[in-house]
Amino acid sequence: SVTSTTDTYSIPVTQTTAEIIPGVRTPVLTYGGSFPGPTIKARSGRRVVVKQPNRITTGTSMHLHGAVVDPANDGGPMDLITPGGQRTYTYPNPQVAATLWYHDHAHHMEAEHVYRGMSGFYLISDDNEDALPLPRGTYDVPIVVRDIGLNPDGTLFFDHNFDTRPQILVNGKPQPYFQVAARKYRLRILNGSNQRPFEFRLSDGGEFTQIASDRGLLPAPYTTTTLPLSPAERADIVVDFSRYPVGSSVVLENAYFPEPSNKEILRFDVVRSAYDPSSVPARLATLPPTAAPTQTRNYTLDFDVQTGAGSISGKTWDEQRVDTTVRQGDTEVWEIKNTHPFIPHNFHIHLVDFRILDIDGKPPTPGDAGLKDTVRIGPGETARILVHFDFPYSGRYYYHCHLIDHSSMGMMANLEIT
Ligand code: C2O
Ligand code: CU
Ligand code: CU
Repeated sequence: SVTSTTDTYSIPVTQTTAEIIPGVRTPVLTYGGSFPGPTIKARSGRRVVVKQPNRITTGTSMHLHGAVVDPANDGGPMDLITPGGQRTYTYPNPQVAATLWYHDHAHHMEAEHVYRGMSGFYLISDDNEDALPLPRGTYDVPIVVRDIGLNPDGTLFFDHNFDTRPQILVNGKPQPYFQVAARKYRLRILNGSNQRPFEFRLSDGGEFTQIASDRGLLPAPYTTTTLPLSPAERADIVVDFSRYPVGSSVVLENAYFPEPSNKEILRFDVVRSAYDPSSVPARLATLPPTAAPTQTRNYTLDFDVQTGAGSISGKTWDEQRVDTTVRQGDTEVWEIKNTHPFIPHNFHIHLVDFRILDIDGKPPTPGDAGLKDTVRIGPGETARILVHFDFPYSGRYYYHCHLIDHSSMGMMANLEIT
């Protein structure tokens, strides 16, 4: 038999309806007809090709968030597939096992496109991860958590405001429950919201173990009772449901801005006992060494509440302007300040991964000390990150706030790697 070294997917962008509320058809924009989009399973070092016809009425651009990929396949804001057109994205996956996601990035439309459904998981596996005794197969579950606002007629309400989206969806469903066996599960959690921050915890205050962050496994597991995730951040956690009696339930809750309407995220009903051969080993991965930085750059995230306009270091995004030029191979410290007294932001850079050095001088928790591509920056806070531009690609990339309502209003800038 012939072994192919390419996995090919056909994922048209379509306008269709989804049954978000039982019995109600809600118009949505999708990848491949499902809400959210299909999960792509990729293998480190093996090519994935996505063929993408655009069957909606606006231009689209699919960005693979967290991917090491050349600029032509990065899905930039102006690199649009016109309505009726199509293109092929090629991903070489030269990176370690990680939970990534793909989403629309068409400039000024990305917030609405993503809000209406244009995102999906992209999971990369590798040999190191395969050799670990972690929960796998049906016990390895991707979970995208996001908020949404539904009109009484079932259509989606869209504006750029945070408080018009009271409904929480898990994998596209409201008030979800999940029947689990009394054993360990790996939950790959993505905050897929446009703006809402989450702080996940279990309703009994119980512990769970974080094993991965944005760009792959942590060096060692981190046992905790709380998991903060801003939009676009990912974390893989292992929850041991054998701590709960069969017949009982435990709820994944949001402890950030707890409101009665959206505190409960996902109820786990423990329905049966199970043999559990899985475990979480004390060592998970070896992170690449860090290098000494050659320089420090300073950025501010600025947000105008009156106009809703965003900017970075005083400048609203402009396609023509080069905001930052870095040399391939360099390591730099980027210091990013959120100038707003009460609005949270975060900061994402395409292509690269980075390490969080500190936030307002405080070192990150072990859960945030692994490979990251998005960093939370709370009101008034300053984050310092160590960024390696050590991938074999050059050209145009982007950095932006990933509260996607903000980036689509201009809180984005151009990065040139030379
Ligand atoms: Cu998910 Cu430009 O980002
Ligand atoms: Cu990205
Ligand atoms: Cu922001």
